[in-house]
Amino acid sequence: MASPTDVTSEQQLPESGVWVRPLWLWLSPLFPSRPHVLIDVPHHLPTCYHPDVNTTRIVTVSAYKGGVGKTTLAFELAASLGAVLVDCDWDRGGASGTWGAAPSDGRLLRGLLGDHPPRPLRRAGRPDLVPSSPGLAGWIGDPAVAAGRLREWAEAWDRPVVIDTHPGAVPLTDAAWAAADVVVVPVGIGWPELRALEGLLSERATAFTLILAPNRIRSRAVIRPQLIALVNMARAHGVAVAPPIGDYPWLPRRARRSALVLNPSPGRAVAAAAADFRTLAHTVEQALAIDTPELPAPAEVLEGANA
Ligand SMILES: Nc1ncnc2c1ncn2[C@@H]1O[C@H](COP(=O)(O)OP(=O)(O)O)[C@@H](O)[C@H]1O
Ligand SMILES: [Mg+2]
Repeated sequence: MASPTDVTSEQQLPESGVWVRPLWLWLSPLFPSRPHVLIDVPHHLPTCYHPDVNTTRIVTVSAYKGGVGKTTLAFELAASLGAVLVDCDWDRGGASGTWGAAPSDGRLLRGLLGDHPPRPLRRAGRPDLVPSSPGLAGWIGDPAVAAGRLREWAEAWDRPVVIDTHPGAVPLTDAAWAAADVVVVPVGIGWPELRALEGLLSERATAFTLILAPNRIRSRAVIRPQLIALVNMARAHGVAVAPPIGDYPWLPRRARRSALVLNPSPGRAVAAAAADFRTLAHTVEQALAIDTPELPAPAEVLEGANA
């Protein structure tokens, strides 16, 4: 398969010069074939079988790298989907801080340790939230058990759940992957980022339903070779690519704590960004609508994995 640096020739360009449409059209048919079963994946991720009747809708936002937009996407996705945002990233500057939750709020940690689903916080203009707390950094529980809890909470709340994660393969992030029906991976379009993504795909693409979300895309013309590399990588691994999200330089300077997509009277700039995030949410909804009865039986999947 082509590595990012191999992808320079015009032959590898898509037929059309318009990016969003070809990206999506090529890759969307791949969704129905993705199993909802997690098996034998590296980094000691737990084995977790999602039952045939899958009533949960858990979207984990994760990437090996920090600063790629996980928290931004998780916040806006949760707001768009009417989901509970579970903040599994304990670093300050994460979703709970943006939301305005108290750093001392330990309900997530207590929920992971006990068996009661935490009660989400609620405030107008923001997604409902189970906030993080610094104590999560020391959590060393079993990711498989925590994944089971997260799935139980999703059922108890009877709502979609979006999980924001700490970068890297820490136990709580492993739990969030194992709990997920879909994992959204924000992707920065630089060569180092794409090489990191190649690592993630070769380790995990066969075991998870992934959506790559190119983020902070300023000009498609300028980063054309990188986008081509991204598409080729995604095709080689059979994962979906969402329409790119623009680069909005005012976003890091924004002081308001509300979700862009919930702004009832947005100006032009906010409306454009909100439209990008809603499009991503729509892509996620399509992935979640996979017809579960078509899933292979566990034995078949395990055979395939060992082949
Ligand atoms: N589409 C975007 N346009 C402009 N800035 C963005 C965009 N997405 C994220 N950012 C900014 O990038 C920085 C890192 O984003 P963040 O969501 O915190 O990443 P992560 O959670 O992966 O560390 C933040 O300052 C955020 O406001
Ligand atoms: Mg973050």
